[in-house]
Amino acid sequence: MLVSAKEMLEKAKAGHYAVGQFNINNLEWTKAVLQTAQELNSPVILGVSEGAGKYMTGFKTVAAMVAAMDGELGITVPVALHLDHGTYEGCYKCIKAGFTSIMFDGSHYPIEENIAKTKELVAVAHNMGMSIEAEVGSIGGEEDGVVGMGECADPDECKAVADLGVDMLAAGIGNIHGKYPENWAGLSFETLDKIQQKTGVMPLVLHGGTGIPEEMIKKAIDLGVSKINVNTECQLSFADATRKYIEAGKDTEGKGFDPRKLLAPGAEAISATVKEKMELFGSVGKA
Ligand code: 13P
Repeated sequence: MLVSAKEMLEKAKAGHYAVGQFNINNLEWTKAVLQTAQELNSPVILGVSEGAGKYMTGFKTVAAMVAAMDGELGITVPVALHLDHGTYEGCYKCIKAGFTSIMFDGSHYPIEENIAKTKELVAVAHNMGMSIEAEVGSIGGEEDGVVGMGECADPDECKAVADLGVDMLAAGIGNIHGKYPENWAGLSFETLDKIQQKTGVMPLVLHGGTGIPEEMIKKAIDLGVSKINVNTECQLSFADATRKYIEAGKDTEGKGFDPRKLLAPGAEAISATVKEKMELFGSVGKA
């Protein structure tokens, strides 16, 4: 059931668990995430970066595919279709395309400009019944060519953006997209605690969910994180399983080259990763 992310995140915040955002790349990805959420009776957020949207030929294609798949698979758990790290223009495209949620990432603008653009988009999104995520303090690492250094957000700036009426807030706390380097200092719980105190009931978002140790995830949820984004880990699981299938020569046996067979182990691996994360985040049975 396609919905905005507002209610599922408010419930998660109140219930001290987090909803997973899993980024999608194609039909197999989307199907694996939706079926796993349904099987586990968990709410879920499908994340679409601008690059992934372009790869899938545009946001309209994505919105049409997700809406049709949601219906054809008989998905009854709450599903939000969410733009990940949207530009100002990208947000408007997704609003028109039929997404149910957007993220405006204005973290690279001076704070005044981030606030002005976020404020405008909050009004437009809410008018359409959509939820909106904002970002303060950039997330480290590289995603779709956008490189961030992973600074910690200023709690006062977080409060200023939260007060604009956004439904969820991504605040940098030393988190990084992609694999974490050996010398990573870990999440700054001190910053997270200050942000949570300033922003109150606002659901906080933890980007860069891949490779964060379990205890850190649990502590972040205790400190007010109610949405956790995972992308790279599903990609790694998919690649590993696909490599094993090919290295075992299975694509050369019988009809093993059939894409429905060739891509099946990768899709199963995505499902397993999504299941593991939903169990860790505590969203199982919360639909
Ligand atoms: P990872 O690729 O590190 O899991 O991060 C995903 C993310 O934050 C998407 O916005």
